[in-house]
Amino acid sequence: MLVNRPPMGWNTWNTFGKDISDSLIRESTDAFLDLGLKDAGYQYIVIDDCWSRRTRDPETDRLVPEPEKFPYGMKSLADYIHERGLKFGMYSCAGQRTCADYPGSFDHEFLDAETFASWGVDYLKYDFCYKPQGVEGPWLYRRMGMALRASGRDILFSACNWGSDDVWSWIRSTGAHMYRSTGDIMDNAESYRKIVKSQLPKLGTSAPQCYNDIDMLTVGMYGKGLVGTTGCGDADYRSQFALWCFFSAPLMLGCDIRHMNETTRSLVTNRDLIRINQDLEARPPMKSGRPWNENFWTLFKHLDDGTYALGFFNMDEKDGETYANFSDFGLPNHAGYDVTVRDILGDEGEQTYREYMRVKVPAHDCKVYIAKLVKR
Ligand code: GLA
Repeated sequence: MLVNRPPMGWNTWNTFGKDISDSLIRESTDAFLDLGLKDAGYQYIVIDDCWSRRTRDPETDRLVPEPEKFPYGMKSLADYIHERGLKFGMYSCAGQRTCADYPGSFDHEFLDAETFASWGVDYLKYDFCYKPQGVEGPWLYRRMGMALRASGRDILFSACNWGSDDVWSWIRSTGAHMYRSTGDIMDNAESYRKIVKSQLPKLGTSAPQCYNDIDMLTVGMYGKGLVGTTGCGDADYRSQFALWCFFSAPLMLGCDIRHMNETTRSLVTNRDLIRINQDLEARPPMKSGRPWNENFWTLFKHLDDGTYALGFFNMDEKDGETYANFSDFGLPNHAGYDVTVRDILGDEGEQTYREYMRVKVPAHDCKVYIAKLVKR
């Protein structure tokens, strides 16, 4: 089994787009280690679109790294990453061209999988642009799923068809380990909120070995880079990161990690949040909130050690108070249990509540607790 927890790593796209190079990847690999990302559980360094020449090698038909960007080739980069105990990811596309108009893998799936395996690739993100007319989307993912298996190397298959063709209903059968379910994230509050709202009802099919991928994080971008737009403040980044954790979504960082500030570093390495994300059972959260204001969410998630994650999210423009009525999650008052919660983002420590809990949450922000039941 290749994957039994949501994959964690860093991907070039959100910040760098086509401006990628050997030195960027090596510097980011060094930063990855210096920041303690590896110790926190992050593993994959992933090069997204725009790494190859515009055409295949005319003699071998193989993909060729653009020599100006990657003068030492991909094997040398893979070695650099592997020597540091990390894993190496790359990108291709199920259609004839990639989304940024480089050669795609259509009808070259087995050759390309072999090439990636020979370079030491451990992870393949597989996009969905330029699909030939009349070809079924699911069939293209079946092909690459098969090609990766045939390559003789363990390669994580990260499908990226943006939720087309009811992807959740068939993707697991192709051998994929994660599947993008939405269009591209932008670095603003509306974008990540829209993404989580669209997927909350569909999390029941995201499960160990094949996780719903709600896109690379914009946490720590502060408006810089390709998908930068207006950027977010730290309250929104806290909420975004916590929501990805409640959703058991892959945690692929998208900011320039060479310049990550301390607030971002301590958020993305928060042990308790990562523990929620990496829970082996990957159960979807239950949701309640304030019935008269749909911008207040309370999420309650079963964890594999018998504890629970409890999160309060304020997606409103004003500070406010939100609630957890424990009976909404299956714990009626007459059952005779109280709930002890431990604050994992702030310094409230441990407190015990009976029947319900009220929490003040600033606009755009969240509060997250690990909860356990205690018999009265
Ligand atoms: C699509 C994907 C993005 C990124 C770009 C690259 O838009 O959804 O995540 O990979 O292609 O061109």
